[in-house]
Amino acid sequence: MDGGFWPKPYKIKVVEPIRLPPREEREKKLEEAGYNVFHLASSDVYVDLLTDSGTGAMSQAQWAALMEGDEAYAGSRSFAQFQQTVQDITGMPYVLPTHQGRGAEHVFFSTLLQPGDVVPSNAHFDTTRAHVLSGGGKPVDLPIPEAFDPEADHPFKGDMDLAALKALLRDPPGRIPVVMLTVTNNTTAGQPVSMKNVRAVAELAHTHGIPLFLDACRYAENCYLVREREPGYQEKEPRAIARELFAYADGCLMSAKKDAIANIGGFLAMRDKALYVRCRERLILVEGFPTYGGLAGRDLAAIAVGLDEALDLAYLRDRVAQVRWLAERLREIGIPVYWPPGGHAVYVDAARLLPHIPKEAFPGQALVCALYVEGGVRAVEVGSAMLGESAKLELVRLAVPRRVYTQEHLQAVVEAFARIRDGARAIRGLRLVEGGGPLRHFVARFVPGV
Ligand code: F0G
Repeated sequence: MDGGFWPKPYKIKVVEPIRLPPREEREKKLEEAGYNVFHLASSDVYVDLLTDSGTGAMSQAQWAALMEGDEAYAGSRSFAQFQQTVQDITGMPYVLPTHQGRGAEHVFFSTLLQPGDVVPSNAHFDTTRAHVLSGGGKPVDLPIPEAFDPEADHPFKGDMDLAALKALLRDPPGRIPVVMLTVTNNTTAGQPVSMKNVRAVAELAHTHGIPLFLDACRYAENCYLVREREPGYQEKEPRAIARELFAYADGCLMSAKKDAIANIGGFLAMRDKALYVRCRERLILVEGFPTYGGLAGRDLAAIAVGLDEALDLAYLRDRVAQVRWLAERLREIGIPVYWPPGGHAVYVDAARLLPHIPKEAFPGQALVCALYVEGGVRAVEVGSAMLGESAKLELVRLAVPRRVYTQEHLQAVVEAFARIRDGARAIRGLRLVEGGGPLRHFVARFVPGV
Protein backbone atom coordinates (compact mmCIF):
# COMPACT_ATOMS: atom_id res chain seq x y z
CA MET A 1 0.00 0.00 0.00
CA ASP A 2 1.35 3.43 -0.90
CA GLY A 3 0.00 6.67 0.62
CA GLY A 4 -3.20 4.96 1.67
CA PHE A 5 -3.86 3.50 -1.76
CA TRP A 6 -3.34 0.06 -3.20
CA PRO A 7 -4.12 -1.40 -6.61
CA LYS A 8 -7.82 -2.23 -6.87
CA PRO A 9 -8.29 -5.56 -8.66
CA TYR A 10 -11.56 -4.50 -10.30
CA LYS A 11 -13.43 -1.60 -11.83
CA ILE A 12 -17.14 -0.78 -11.80
CA LYS A 13 -19.30 -1.94 -14.71
CA VAL A 14 -22.83 -1.73 -13.31
CA VAL A 15 -24.03 0.98 -10.95
CA GLU A 16 -26.98 1.10 -8.57
CA PRO A 17 -28.34 4.57 -7.76
CA ILE A 18 -28.40 5.58 -4.11
CA ARG A 19 -29.31 8.82 -2.38
CA LEU A 20 -28.73 10.56 0.89
CA PRO A 21 -32.17 11.65 2.15
CA PRO A 22 -32.25 15.07 3.86
CA ARG A 23 -31.58 15.05 7.61
CA GLU A 24 -35.22 15.78 8.63
CA GLU A 25 -36.35 12.86 6.49
CA ARG A 26 -33.77 10.59 8.12
CA GLU A 27 -34.98 11.60 11.57
CA LYS A 28 -38.57 10.86 10.59
CA LYS A 29 -37.71 7.50 8.99
CA LEU A 30 -35.78 6.45 12.08
CA GLU A 31 -38.69 7.29 14.36
CA GLU A 32 -41.06 5.33 12.09
CA ALA A 33 -38.59 2.42 12.23
CA GLY A 34 -38.84 2.30 16.04
CA TYR A 35 -35.15 3.29 16.28
CA ASN A 36 -34.24 -0.08 14.82
CA VAL A 37 -32.44 0.22 11.49
CA PHE A 38 -33.58 -3.29 10.50
CA HIS A 39 -36.97 -1.63 9.92
CA LEU A 40 -35.59 0.98 7.50
CA ALA A 41 -36.11 0.69 3.75
CA SER A 42 -32.75 0.32 2.00
CA SER A 43 -33.78 3.15 -0.34
CA ASP A 44 -33.58 5.45 2.69
CA VAL A 45 -29.99 4.39 3.44
CA TYR A 46 -26.95 6.07 1.89
CA VAL A 47 -24.08 3.75 2.90
CA ASP A 48 -25.36 0.37 4.03
CA LEU A 49 -22.93 -1.31 6.43
CA LEU A 50 -25.61 -3.39 8.13
CA THR A 51 -24.01 -6.57 6.92
CA ASP A 52 -21.49 -8.05 4.52
CA SER A 53 -23.84 -10.99 4.06
CA GLY A 54 -25.40 -11.42 0.63
CA THR A 55 -24.61 -7.79 -0.17
CA GLY A 56 -21.45 -8.28 -2.24
CA ALA A 57 -21.13 -7.27 -5.89
CA MET A 58 -20.89 -10.30 -8.13
CA SER A 59 -18.26 -10.35 -10.87
CA GLN A 60 -18.85 -10.59 -14.62
CA ALA A 61 -17.81 -14.24 -14.37
CA GLN A 62 -20.49 -14.87 -11.73
CA TRP A 63 -23.18 -13.12 -13.79
CA ALA A 64 -22.12 -15.16 -16.79
CA ALA A 65 -22.33 -18.34 -14.69
CA LEU A 66 -25.90 -17.43 -13.70
CA MET A 67 -26.90 -17.50 -17.35
CA GLU A 68 -25.47 -20.99 -17.67
CA GLY A 69 -27.21 -22.32 -14.58
CA ASP A 70 -28.76 -25.73 -15.06
CA GLU A 71 -32.18 -25.78 -13.41
CA ALA A 72 -32.70 -29.55 -13.51
CA TYR A 73 -34.31 -30.82 -10.31
CA ALA A 74 -31.83 -33.66 -10.02
CA GLY A 75 -28.24 -34.06 -11.15
CA SER A 76 -27.82 -30.51 -12.43
CA ARG A 77 -24.56 -29.54 -14.11
CA SER A 78 -24.37 -26.50 -11.83
CA PHE A 79 -24.45 -28.76 -8.78
CA ALA A 80 -21.56 -30.80 -10.18
CA GLN A 81 -19.56 -27.60 -10.68
CA PHE A 82 -20.43 -26.40 -7.16
CA GLN A 83 -19.65 -29.75 -5.56
CA GLN A 84 -16.30 -30.00 -7.32
CA THR A 85 -15.29 -26.51 -6.19
CA VAL A 86 -16.22 -27.17 -2.57
CA GLN A 87 -14.40 -30.50 -2.64
CA ASP A 88 -11.30 -28.87 -4.15
CA ILE A 89 -11.16 -26.13 -1.53
CA THR A 90 -12.10 -28.13 1.56
CA GLY A 91 -10.86 -31.58 0.65
CA MET A 92 -14.15 -32.87 2.04
CA PRO A 93 -15.95 -35.47 -0.08
CA TYR A 94 -19.57 -34.98 1.03
CA VAL A 95 -21.27 -31.71 0.13
CA LEU A 96 -24.86 -30.61 0.72
CA PRO A 97 -26.14 -27.25 -0.60
CA THR A 98 -28.50 -25.19 1.57
CA HIS A 99 -30.41 -21.97 1.01
CA GLN A 100 -28.04 -20.07 3.33
CA GLY A 101 -25.83 -20.56 6.39
CA ARG A 102 -28.64 -21.03 8.85
CA GLY A 103 -30.15 -23.68 6.56
CA ALA A 104 -26.90 -25.62 7.03
CA GLU A 105 -27.11 -25.00 10.79
CA HIS A 106 -30.69 -26.25 10.87
CA VAL A 107 -29.90 -29.45 8.98
CA PHE A 108 -26.72 -30.10 10.95
CA PHE A 109 -27.91 -29.43 14.48
CA SER A 110 -31.32 -31.00 14.07
CA THR A 111 -29.56 -34.16 12.85
CA LEU A 112 -26.78 -34.23 15.41
CA LEU A 113 -28.11 -32.81 18.66
CA GLN A 114 -29.83 -34.56 21.52
CA PRO A 115 -31.39 -32.60 24.38
CA GLY A 116 -28.76 -31.75 26.99
CA ASP A 117 -25.84 -31.80 24.53
CA VAL A 118 -23.12 -29.20 24.95
CA VAL A 119 -21.60 -27.44 21.94
CA PRO A 120 -18.39 -25.49 22.58
CA SER A 121 -17.17 -22.83 20.17
CA ASN A 122 -14.76 -19.90 20.19
CA ALA A 123 -18.07 -18.00 20.01
CA HIS A 124 -21.31 -18.99 18.36
CA PHE A 125 -22.89 -16.59 15.90
CA ASP A 126 -26.45 -15.64 16.92
CA THR A 127 -28.23 -18.01 14.52
CA THR A 128 -25.85 -20.85 15.45
CA ARG A 129 -26.54 -20.27 19.12
CA ALA A 130 -30.27 -20.19 18.44
CA HIS A 131 -30.10 -23.47 16.50
CA VAL A 132 -28.19 -25.19 19.32
CA LEU A 133 -30.73 -23.90 21.82
CA SER A 134 -33.71 -24.91 19.72
CA GLY A 135 -32.31 -28.46 19.53
CA GLY A 136 -32.26 -28.59 23.33
CA GLY A 137 -28.48 -28.11 23.43
CA LYS A 138 -26.29 -25.75 25.37
CA PRO A 139 -24.00 -23.45 23.38
CA VAL A 140 -20.78 -22.66 25.24
CA ASP A 141 -18.50 -19.82 24.13
CA LEU A 142 -14.81 -20.22 24.97
CA PRO A 143 -13.04 -17.17 23.51
CA ILE A 144 -9.63 -16.13 24.81
CA PRO A 145 -9.81 -13.34 27.43
CA GLU A 146 -8.15 -10.84 25.03
CA ALA A 147 -11.26 -11.06 22.83
CA PHE A 148 -13.07 -8.81 25.28
CA ASP A 149 -10.33 -6.22 25.42
CA PRO A 150 -10.74 -3.92 22.40
CA GLU A 151 -7.24 -2.54 22.99
CA ALA A 152 -5.31 -5.76 23.65
CA ASP A 153 -2.54 -6.20 21.14
CA HIS A 154 -3.08 -9.76 19.96
CA PRO A 155 -3.14 -10.81 16.29
CA PHE A 156 -5.67 -13.64 16.74
CA LYS A 157 -8.35 -12.58 19.16
CA GLY A 158 -10.68 -15.10 17.49
CA ASP A 159 -8.76 -18.00 19.05
CA MET A 160 -10.45 -20.47 21.36
CA ASP A 161 -9.29 -20.65 24.99
CA LEU A 162 -7.50 -24.00 24.98
CA ALA A 163 -7.33 -24.36 28.76
CA ALA A 164 -11.07 -23.76 29.00
CA LEU A 165 -11.74 -26.32 26.25
CA LYS A 166 -9.49 -28.84 27.96
CA ALA A 167 -11.37 -28.39 31.23
CA LEU A 168 -14.75 -28.73 29.50
CA LEU A 169 -13.70 -31.87 27.66
CA ARG A 170 -12.33 -33.42 30.83
CA ASP A 171 -15.48 -32.84 32.80
CA PRO A 172 -18.34 -32.20 30.36
CA PRO A 173 -21.74 -31.29 31.82
CA GLY A 174 -23.36 -33.23 28.97
CA ARG A 175 -22.50 -35.10 25.78
CA ILE A 176 -20.35 -33.05 23.38
CA PRO A 177 -21.27 -34.16 19.84
CA VAL A 178 -19.13 -31.54 18.08
CA VAL A 179 -16.62 -28.78 18.74
CA MET A 180 -17.11 -25.67 16.60
CA LEU A 181 -14.74 -22.93 15.52
CA THR A 182 -16.08 -19.80 13.82
CA VAL A 183 -13.52 -18.45 11.34
CA THR A 184 -13.33 -15.47 11.45
CA ASN A 185 -15.09 -15.02 14.75
CA ASN A 186 -17.95 -12.65 13.97
CA THR A 187 -19.23 -12.41 17.55
CA THR A 188 -15.84 -11.29 18.85
CA ALA A 189 -15.33 -8.40 16.44
CA GLY A 190 -14.64 -10.50 13.34
CA GLN A 191 -11.30 -11.58 14.72
CA PRO A 192 -9.28 -14.27 12.96
CA VAL A 193 -8.35 -17.65 14.41
CA SER A 194 -4.68 -18.68 14.11
CA MET A 195 -3.77 -21.90 12.37
CA LYS A 196 -1.93 -22.88 15.52
CA ASN A 197 -5.17 -22.61 17.49
CA VAL A 198 -7.17 -24.55 14.90
CA ARG A 199 -4.56 -27.31 15.01
CA ALA A 200 -4.59 -27.43 18.81
CA VAL A 201 -8.40 -27.40 19.05
CA ALA A 202 -8.61 -30.21 16.50
CA GLU A 203 -6.07 -32.26 18.42
CA LEU A 204 -7.95 -31.82 21.69
CA ALA A 205 -11.31 -32.63 20.17
CA HIS A 206 -9.96 -35.67 18.36
CA THR A 207 -8.26 -36.98 21.50
CA HIS A 208 -11.75 -37.16 22.98
CA GLY A 209 -13.20 -38.70 19.82
CA ILE A 210 -15.18 -35.54 19.03
CA PRO A 211 -15.35 -34.07 15.52
CA LEU A 212 -14.34 -30.47 14.80
CA PHE A 213 -16.61 -28.47 12.49
CA LEU A 214 -15.79 -25.01 11.19
CA ASP A 215 -18.33 -22.25 10.79
CA ALA A 216 -16.49 -21.22 7.65
CA CYS A 217 -18.50 -18.18 6.44
CA ARG A 218 -15.40 -16.00 6.32
CA TYR A 219 -12.70 -18.64 6.03
CA ALA A 220 -10.95 -16.93 3.08
CA GLU A 221 -10.54 -13.69 5.03
CA ASN A 222 -9.29 -15.76 7.96
CA CYS A 223 -6.73 -17.42 5.67
CA TYR A 224 -5.56 -14.03 4.42
CA LEU A 225 -5.13 -12.75 7.99
CA VAL A 226 -3.15 -15.92 8.83
CA ARG A 227 -0.93 -15.09 5.86
CA GLU A 228 -0.45 -11.53 7.15
CA ARG A 229 -0.05 -12.25 10.84
CA GLU A 230 1.10 -15.80 11.55
CA PRO A 231 4.78 -16.71 11.16
CA GLY A 232 5.45 -19.15 8.34
CA TYR A 233 2.51 -18.28 6.08
CA GLN A 234 3.73 -15.13 4.31
CA GLU A 235 4.73 -16.90 1.11
CA LYS A 236 1.72 -19.22 0.94
CA GLU A 237 -1.21 -18.85 -1.42
CA PRO A 238 -4.60 -18.40 0.30
CA ARG A 239 -5.79 -21.62 -1.33
CA ALA A 240 -2.95 -23.59 0.26
CA ILE A 241 -3.70 -22.00 3.63
CA ALA A 242 -7.37 -22.91 3.20
CA ARG A 243 -6.40 -26.50 2.39
CA GLU A 244 -4.48 -26.71 5.65
CA LEU A 245 -7.29 -25.07 7.62
CA PHE A 246 -9.91 -27.50 6.36
CA ALA A 247 -7.55 -30.46 6.74
CA TYR A 248 -7.81 -30.14 10.53
CA ALA A 249 -11.61 -30.19 10.46
CA ASP A 250 -14.10 -33.00 10.04
CA GLY A 251 -16.65 -30.78 8.42
CA CYS A 252 -17.84 -27.24 7.90
CA LEU A 253 -20.94 -25.08 7.72
CA MET A 254 -20.83 -22.21 5.30
CA SER A 255 -22.89 -19.21 4.37
CA ALA A 256 -22.10 -18.53 0.71
CA LYS A 257 -23.38 -14.98 1.30
CA LYS A 258 -19.98 -14.09 2.72
CA ASP A 259 -16.80 -15.63 1.32
CA ALA A 260 -18.47 -17.03 -1.79
CA ILE A 261 -19.53 -13.47 -2.76
CA ALA A 262 -23.01 -14.71 -3.65
CA ASN A 263 -26.31 -13.06 -2.78
CA ILE A 264 -27.77 -16.28 -1.39
CA GLY A 265 -26.69 -19.81 -0.56
CA GLY A 266 -24.78 -22.01 1.80
CA PHE A 267 -23.59 -25.55 2.31
CA LEU A 268 -22.49 -28.32 4.62
CA ALA A 269 -19.40 -30.35 3.84
CA MET A 270 -18.00 -33.27 5.80
CA ARG A 271 -15.86 -36.38 5.78
CA ASP A 272 -18.10 -38.84 7.64
CA LYS A 273 -20.36 -40.73 5.26
CA ALA A 274 -22.77 -41.96 7.93
CA LEU A 275 -23.35 -38.42 9.22
CA TYR A 276 -23.71 -37.17 5.65
CA VAL A 277 -26.41 -39.76 4.94
CA ARG A 278 -28.35 -38.63 8.04
CA CYS A 279 -27.95 -34.94 7.15
CA ARG A 280 -29.01 -35.64 3.57
CA GLU A 281 -32.26 -37.19 4.75
CA ARG A 282 -32.98 -34.14 6.85
CA LEU A 283 -31.95 -31.83 3.98
CA ILE A 284 -34.54 -33.34 1.64
CA LEU A 285 -37.23 -32.63 4.23
CA VAL A 286 -36.34 -29.04 5.13
CA GLU A 287 -34.25 -27.61 2.25
CA GLY A 288 -34.64 -29.64 -0.93
CA PHE A 289 -33.25 -32.46 -3.02
CA PRO A 290 -29.48 -32.92 -2.40
CA THR A 291 -28.45 -31.52 -5.78
CA TYR A 292 -30.11 -28.14 -5.22
CA GLY A 293 -30.80 -27.81 -1.48
CA GLY A 294 -33.12 -24.80 -1.58
CA LEU A 295 -31.22 -22.99 -4.32
CA ALA A 296 -31.68 -22.44 -8.02
CA GLY A 297 -29.10 -24.10 -10.27
CA ARG A 298 -27.87 -20.64 -11.26
CA ASP A 299 -27.17 -19.80 -7.62
CA LEU A 300 -24.98 -22.90 -7.32
CA ALA A 301 -23.10 -21.86 -10.45
CA ALA A 302 -22.50 -18.32 -9.12
CA ILE A 303 -21.35 -19.69 -5.75
CA ALA A 304 -18.86 -22.02 -7.45
CA VAL A 305 -17.27 -19.09 -9.28
CA GLY A 306 -17.41 -16.83 -6.20
CA LEU A 307 -15.68 -19.42 -4.00
CA ASP A 308 -12.68 -19.36 -6.32
CA GLU A 309 -12.67 -15.57 -6.62
CA ALA A 310 -12.73 -15.11 -2.86
CA LEU A 311 -9.41 -16.98 -2.60
CA ASP A 312 -7.68 -14.69 -5.09
CA LEU A 313 -4.80 -12.94 -3.38
CA ALA A 314 -5.35 -9.56 -5.07
CA TYR A 315 -9.03 -9.65 -4.10
CA LEU A 316 -8.29 -10.54 -0.48
CA ARG A 317 -5.56 -7.92 -0.19
CA ASP A 318 -7.97 -5.23 -1.41
CA ARG A 319 -10.77 -6.48 0.80
CA VAL A 320 -8.78 -6.49 4.02
CA ALA A 321 -6.97 -3.24 3.16
CA GLN A 322 -10.30 -1.45 2.66
CA VAL A 323 -11.59 -2.55 6.05
CA ARG A 324 -8.30 -1.59 7.65
CA TRP A 325 -8.36 1.82 5.93
CA LEU A 326 -11.73 2.58 7.50
CA ALA A 327 -10.53 1.41 10.94
CA GLU A 328 -7.39 3.54 10.73
CA ARG A 329 -9.25 6.70 9.63
CA LEU A 330 -11.74 6.31 12.48
CA ARG A 331 -8.96 5.74 14.98
CA GLU A 332 -7.14 8.84 13.71
CA ILE A 333 -10.14 11.04 14.48
CA GLY A 334 -10.40 9.64 17.99
CA ILE A 335 -13.14 7.03 17.57
CA PRO A 336 -12.49 4.03 19.85
CA VAL A 337 -12.17 1.16 17.44
CA TYR A 338 -11.71 -2.52 18.32
CA TRP A 339 -8.09 -3.28 17.47
CA PRO A 340 -6.70 -4.80 15.36
CA PRO A 341 -9.51 -4.80 12.78
CA GLY A 342 -10.58 -8.17 11.39
CA GLY A 343 -11.45 -9.06 7.82
CA HIS A 344 -15.01 -7.98 7.17
CA ALA A 345 -15.92 -5.17 9.51
CA VAL A 346 -14.82 -2.40 11.81
CA TYR A 347 -16.23 -2.58 15.32
CA VAL A 348 -16.63 0.65 17.29
CA ASP A 349 -16.62 0.61 21.08
CA ALA A 350 -19.85 2.51 21.81
CA ALA A 351 -19.42 2.26 25.58
CA ARG A 352 -16.26 4.34 25.32
CA LEU A 353 -17.59 6.78 22.74
CA LEU A 354 -20.82 7.38 24.68
CA PRO A 355 -19.77 6.80 28.31
CA HIS A 356 -22.75 8.79 29.62
CA ILE A 357 -25.21 6.15 28.32
CA PRO A 358 -25.53 3.16 30.68
CA LYS A 359 -25.65 -0.42 29.36
CA GLU A 360 -29.40 -0.63 30.13
CA ALA A 361 -30.00 2.28 27.74
CA PHE A 362 -28.19 0.54 24.85
CA PRO A 363 -25.23 2.79 23.97
CA GLY A 364 -24.53 0.72 20.85
CA GLN A 365 -28.06 1.07 19.54
CA ALA A 366 -27.94 4.82 20.32
CA LEU A 367 -24.77 5.08 18.23
CA VAL A 368 -26.37 3.12 15.38
CA CYS A 369 -29.26 5.63 15.40
CA ALA A 370 -26.88 8.62 15.51
CA LEU A 371 -24.97 7.24 12.53
CA TYR A 372 -28.11 7.06 10.48
CA VAL A 373 -29.18 10.56 11.44
CA GLU A 374 -25.72 12.05 10.86
CA GLY A 375 -24.78 10.32 7.64
CA GLY A 376 -27.54 8.03 6.37
CA VAL A 377 -25.19 5.20 7.37
CA ARG A 378 -26.69 1.90 8.48
CA ALA A 379 -24.69 -0.21 10.95
CA VAL A 380 -25.62 -2.90 13.44
CA GLU A 381 -25.39 -3.09 17.20
CA VAL A 382 -23.51 -6.05 18.70
CA GLY A 383 -24.05 -5.42 22.39
CA SER A 384 -26.85 -5.49 24.92
CA ALA A 385 -29.62 -5.06 22.35
CA MET A 386 -28.42 -8.10 20.37
CA LEU A 387 -26.94 -10.29 23.08
CA GLY A 388 -28.91 -9.23 26.17
CA GLU A 389 -27.37 -9.78 29.57
CA SER A 390 -24.52 -11.85 28.14
CA ALA A 391 -23.05 -8.88 26.23
CA LYS A 392 -19.53 -8.16 27.43
CA LEU A 393 -18.92 -5.23 25.10
CA GLU A 394 -21.15 -2.56 23.58
CA LEU A 395 -20.00 -2.66 19.97
CA VAL A 396 -21.30 -1.26 16.72
CA ARG A 397 -20.31 -3.20 13.63
CA LEU A 398 -19.60 -1.46 10.35
CA ALA A 399 -19.64 -4.44 7.99
CA VAL A 400 -18.17 -3.65 4.59
CA PRO A 401 -19.94 -5.40 1.68
CA ARG A 402 -17.53 -7.05 -0.76
CA ARG A 403 -16.55 -5.01 -3.85
CA VAL A 404 -19.43 -2.55 -3.35
CA TYR A 405 -18.25 0.74 -1.88
CA THR A 406 -15.44 3.09 -2.83
CA GLN A 407 -13.16 4.99 -0.49
CA GLU A 408 -15.40 8.05 -0.98
CA HIS A 409 -18.36 6.19 0.48
CA LEU A 410 -16.27 5.16 3.45
CA GLN A 411 -14.96 8.72 3.81
CA ALA A 412 -18.60 9.81 4.25
CA VAL A 413 -18.83 7.31 7.13
CA VAL A 414 -15.70 8.79 8.72
CA GLU A 415 -17.21 12.29 8.42
CA ALA A 416 -20.45 11.17 10.06
CA PHE A 417 -18.39 9.80 12.94
CA ALA A 418 -16.51 13.11 13.26
CA ARG A 419 -19.85 14.91 13.73
CA ILE A 420 -20.99 12.30 16.26
CA ARG A 421 -17.74 12.67 18.20
CA ASP A 422 -18.25 16.45 18.40
CA GLY A 423 -21.83 16.14 19.63
CA ALA A 424 -21.53 12.88 21.56
CA ARG A 425 -22.79 14.30 24.86
CA ALA A 426 -26.14 15.17 23.33
CA ILE A 427 -26.83 11.60 22.16
CA ARG A 428 -29.38 9.92 24.39
CA GLY A 429 -30.00 6.32 25.27
CA LEU A 430 -33.00 4.17 24.30
CA ARG A 431 -35.66 2.11 25.98
CA LEU A 432 -36.74 -1.27 24.56
CA VAL A 433 -40.52 -1.34 24.10
CA GLU A 434 -41.01 -4.35 21.85
CA GLY A 435 -39.16 -7.62 21.10
CA GLY A 436 -37.85 -10.60 23.08
CA GLY A 437 -35.91 -13.85 22.77
CA PRO A 438 -32.42 -14.52 21.40
CA LEU A 439 -33.16 -12.90 18.02
CA ARG A 440 -35.00 -9.86 19.40
CA HIS A 441 -32.66 -7.33 17.79
CA PHE A 442 -34.12 -8.06 14.36
CA VAL A 443 -37.64 -7.08 15.36
CA ALA A 444 -37.18 -4.86 18.43
CA ARG A 445 -38.59 -1.35 18.72
CA PHE A 446 -37.19 1.37 20.94
CA VAL A 447 -38.10 4.85 22.14
CA PRO A 448 -35.47 7.49 22.80
CA GLY A 449 -34.86 9.58 25.84
CA VAL A 450 -33.22 7.58 28.62
N1 F0G B 1 -22.31 -17.98 11.00
C1 F0G B 1 -21.74 -16.77 11.02
C2 F0G B 1 -20.38 -16.59 11.63
C3 F0G B 1 -22.40 -15.68 10.45
O1 F0G B 1 -21.82 -14.48 10.46
C4 F0G B 1 -23.67 -15.88 9.85
C5 F0G B 1 -24.41 -14.77 9.29
C6 F0G B 1 -24.22 -17.17 9.84
C7 F0G B 1 -23.51 -18.20 10.44
C8 F0G B 1 -25.56 -17.47 9.24
O2 F0G B 1 -25.50 -17.37 7.86
O3 F0G B 1 -27.02 -15.47 7.27
O4 F0G B 1 -26.39 -17.18 5.58
O5 F0G B 1 -27.92 -17.77 7.42
N2 F0G B 1 -24.10 -13.60 9.47
C9 F0G B 1 -24.72 -12.41 8.92
C10 F0G B 1 -24.07 -11.19 9.50
C11 F0G B 1 -26.20 -12.39 8.97
O6 F0G B 1 -24.61 -10.09 9.29
O7 F0G B 1 -23.03 -11.30 10.13
P1 F0G B 1 -26.78 -16.92 6.99
